[in-house]
Amino acid sequence: STQNQDITEHVKCQENCQHPSNVKSHVWTFECAWEVANKVGGIYTVIRSKTGLSVEMMKNQYVLLGPYKGKSSREEIDEFEFSPGPLYDAVCKIRDAGLQVHTGTWLVDGNPVVILFDIASASNKMNYYKQELFEKTNIGIPDSDVESNDSVLFGFMVAQFLAEFSNILTTIEADSSKIVCHFHEWLSGIGLIMLRLWEIKVATVFTTHATLLGRYLCAGSTDFYNNLNNFNIDIEAGNRQIYQRYCLERAAAHMAHVFTTVSDITAMEAECLLKRKPDVITPNGLNIKRFSALHEFQNLHAINKEKIHDFVRGHFYGHLDFDLTKTLYFFIAGRYEFGNKGVDIFIESLARLNHLMKESGTDVTVLAFIILPAKTNNFNVESLKGQAVAKSLKDTIENVQKNIGKKLFELCLSGQMPESDDLLSKDDVVRLKRCLFASHRSLPPPITTHNIAQDDTDQVLNALRRCQLLNNSWDRVKVVFHPEFLSSTNPLFNLDYEEFIRGCNLGVFPSYYEPWGYTPAECTVMGIPSITTNLSGFGCFMADHIADPESYGIHIVDRQNISLDESINQLTRYMLNFTLLTERQRVIQRNRTERLSEILDWENLFIYYKRARLMALSTVYSDTVLDNEEGSSLARQPHPVSEPESSRPVTTTVLGSQDEVDNEKELEELGNRASRNI
Ligand code: UDP
Ligand code: GLC
Repeated sequence: STQNQDITEHVKCQENCQHPSNVKSHVWTFECAWEVANKVGGIYTVIRSKTGLSVEMMKNQYVLLGPYKGKSSREEIDEFEFSPGPLYDAVCKIRDAGLQVHTGTWLVDGNPVVILFDIASASNKMNYYKQELFEKTNIGIPDSDVESNDSVLFGFMVAQFLAEFSNILTTIEADSSKIVCHFHEWLSGIGLIMLRLWEIKVATVFTTHATLLGRYLCAGSTDFYNNLNNFNIDIEAGNRQIYQRYCLERAAAHMAHVFTTVSDITAMEAECLLKRKPDVITPNGLNIKRFSALHEFQNLHAINKEKIHDFVRGHFYGHLDFDLTKTLYFFIAGRYEFGNKGVDIFIESLARLNHLMKESGTDVTVLAFIILPAKTNNFNVESLKGQAVAKSLKDTIENVQKNIGKKLFELCLSGQMPESDDLLSKDDVVRLKRCLFASHRSLPPPITTHNIAQDDTDQVLNALRRCQLLNNSWDRVKVVFHPEFLSSTNPLFNLDYEEFIRGCNLGVFPSYYEPWGYTPAECTVMGIPSITTNLSGFGCFMADHIADPESYGIHIVDRQNISLDESINQLTRYMLNFTLLTERQRVIQRNRTERLSEILDWENLFIYYKRARLMALSTVYSDTVLDNEEGSSLARQPHPVSEPESSRPVTTTVLGSQDEVDNEKELEELGNRASRNI
């Protein structure tokens, strides 16, 4: 029992991150996902954003397991051989079995240890793996299902590795170490399933970030949330040709010692569709680095907004008949799931907003960016030309400016007062005229920056066309569809995604299916207000933790209790209200939004991961003590200072500056003003 107490101490020590690096912790924590060092969507962000904290807590006994993706992996990891030890031995064992793995550290915060499995090296074993899977689970994977085939190879490789590792530990450490492996999403699920079937002593956690069937059902025209309990699951999965994947997901969820998901709304869905109620909800956090000076993030907004202006000057050349100082940048971004991500209602609401703004005679312009990766044949000529035309005009004017400066200097030196006619030479006039003529074009600026591969059937383009959002001069709402994720090497924007968010005014994410939804969360921590919905995990989480989300710049569209048309009107109203804010009011709102960062910090949310892993460990290793965690629920954010008292419970008090108190009254009046306009 002394030994047991020791182990318990070690578990607590490790999980509580108090052990110095020279103390040997007795828990090895593995985290396995297809998106380790492999960017696809939000799961990559889940893992990447907490690497710093995970390593701080678990040191080099925290190991990430992912797929090896050739060139892109080589850019993400620092590859080297492990020094002698159990990890190295296990790697050698599976290499001896003919499987290739790459080891090193991931080049992200904390530099976590990473093992990437080259699934191609196992492809000759595919049939054996599938056979074994079928014999033990009755799940047969069709050859045509590429993703499931990948998951078989990945899963078996991971399971073999962990089995070797566990075996090595028992021999060299006299059974004193514990292993927990946290698997994410169905693509990694076979690893978990095989570990359980082989009865390897590893505690397992399975987190699903959506249910396969939920995502598919929502993408169709199903009234999903009202029928959650009524679906004939097998038939629905079969009809969508995802039956085997669905079985894998369900098997992993049931075989895990602990099953978790990212929000209450997905927990409810999992219970209905996967038939297991999650044991723990593990909300997604972010790695928050707050600036020491509050104005710092406001400055970043101004700097990056200027860069977006540069893009707009090029894209709208010849039609820049709107005032950039009165232009607001809205955006939606994410994977191209037209209905699930709410792109459909975003475009419809933009059309309504356009109408209302035109009617009101406002001089404000809204430019809505739609950033969704689609198949393209590169940038279109008009977009590239626009940037070139703007650049050439800028260069010419810089030259003319220099010439004028020189002339002014010389005239003044010779004691003469320059006349305006002296300043522009004939040459300068000719050059300027050339530029001006080159910037004329009759057609309005394009609504997309790329040649979309399937232009005639593309859902975004067709919706924009149907809604007549075509960048005509009379429109107050302009649109730019950028069918590619942003990166700093992008020739049009020269901005990476984070800089782009910072430069925008409002993120709009009116999702219908969104287990969590990192995009509005990322806006929040950068102090950019956003619109989300009560069908997104993030939206519900914020509603639960903030007394009045709207006054903090988090607008939650109701997509649950009202009709679609009413949801679209509500979204339109939120956007319209936003256009009515003065610059000063927007600054105040950004300050308030940024204040919410703490709620989303992994420092606060990691506790749920810790809880899930301890629960799993305690199931497998009876001597693990579940500590009744400190700080297990988050404090609730109260109303901002000048708001009336909330009737809901408030647990903390946040004081604002006097300046803010004075100015918040202005914000309160806005709601009334805006609602008169819709
Ligand atoms: N994202 C990105 N570049 C872009 C647009 C989005 O890297 O141009 C990232 C964004 O930072 C977020 C992720 O894509 O972390 C999307 O995650 P989310 O949870 O919102 O949706 P998912 O794709 O997982 O359904
Ligand atoms: C999924 C969900 C998304 C969530 C992400 C991370 O891909 O679609 O809503 O934010 O996983 O949990």
